[in-house]
Amino acid sequence: MKDFAGKIVFITGGASGAGLGQAKVFGKAGMKVAIADVRQEALDQAVEELIAYGIKKEDILALKADLTNRDEYKAVADKVEAVFGGPPHLLIQTAGVNSFGPIEASTFDDFDWVMGVCLNHVVNGLLIFVPRMIKAYAHKTEFHVVTTSSMGAFMAGSTTGPYSAAKAAVNNLMYSYAEALKPYGAGATVLCPGNIRSNIGNAEKYRPAHLQNRGYHVSEGTIKTLNAIHAQGIDPVELAEILKEGIENDRIIVLPDHNTGEQRAAQLRALHATIEDYCLTGPEREKKMAERMAEMMKNFAPPSGDGKDAPPPPPMWGIPEGGEPFGKARKDLDWVDPSKK
Ligand code: NAI
Repeated sequence: MKDFAGKIVFITGGASGAGLGQAKVFGKAGMKVAIADVRQEALDQAVEELIAYGIKKEDILALKADLTNRDEYKAVADKVEAVFGGPPHLLIQTAGVNSFGPIEASTFDDFDWVMGVCLNHVVNGLLIFVPRMIKAYAHKTEFHVVTTSSMGAFMAGSTTGPYSAAKAAVNNLMYSYAEALKPYGAGATVLCPGNIRSNIGNAEKYRPAHLQNRGYHVSEGTIKTLNAIHAQGIDPVELAEILKEGIENDRIIVLPDHNTGEQRAAQLRALHATIEDYCLTGPEREKKMAERMAEMMKNFAPPSGDGKDAPPPPPMWGIPEGGEPFGKARKDLDWVDPSKK
């Protein structure tokens, strides 16, 4: 997709972080921007930010919905068509949440929440919008679908189970759509960022009331640590510009860190090699996996700049003042190893 002006973009999770950056960049490119998000206050603030960014009020539509709920998703899809006159030409599904803890401590609520937002809402959007997009635009106008995934799609950690599983699944979904949409003259892209300057560290604060049974230890201190990490991430507008370039060039995977092509390639080689390492046995595997992780972290993005004269990566996983390590289990789970609590 190369022409954006006058067309419609629908962005999930558009009230904050990566999604808001996408709303700014595609709005500036002349698109009518529909943002959908579960948080009304964040939506109101986002609309103000978009107007201040130079996007016309009449080109902005802010819709509150829990997009894991199919009826709510359908209702906002209908609203977009009613207000902007058609389905989106560009569907960007960016809403996401995360929560970290030993996978063996996970509850059904942990899986339902994280996979509900990171995977099921993406399925909802694809099933609701893609048929409408094909009917409205195939062979007439360019259209494109995007999901914001993560580098986590390529690597599973013992404390990132539901998130990594959801992100790996959405990557595969987008590879399927990229192939499937070709005959209609459309494309698909999956954006796989490393770290974004966003509000995702606060996600636990608005976890729905019916999914509160956590297996993980979550506190103000763990949230503080996560926020300190995300403060070092890529700027959402910059990330969205990289995504736009990826869509214009019909890239299926977009890896947007601030690093050179060679650094990115090295990072990806290390990520993919972890799959080979799973085929090894015992100490050989442990050694290889530790080496791969060290290699990958060495090539991780610096917080800003074009990466050409990249300084060594910052201590991304350090604990800030008042922070606490995240990724631990709830203390009362008696089957979980004490070192993980
Ligand atoms: P963010 O928290 O700033 O934005 C995510 C938005 O999704 C929030 O506004 C939130 O209200 C919305 N949302 C959550 N549940 C929803 C639901 N059920 N229905 C509708 N909206 C919902 O976080 P960020 O970081 O901008 O996240 C965007 C995407 O980027 C996510 O898919 C995340 O997994 C992904 N990502 C984030 C990284 C990071 O370092 N922050 C790294 C890699 C990927």
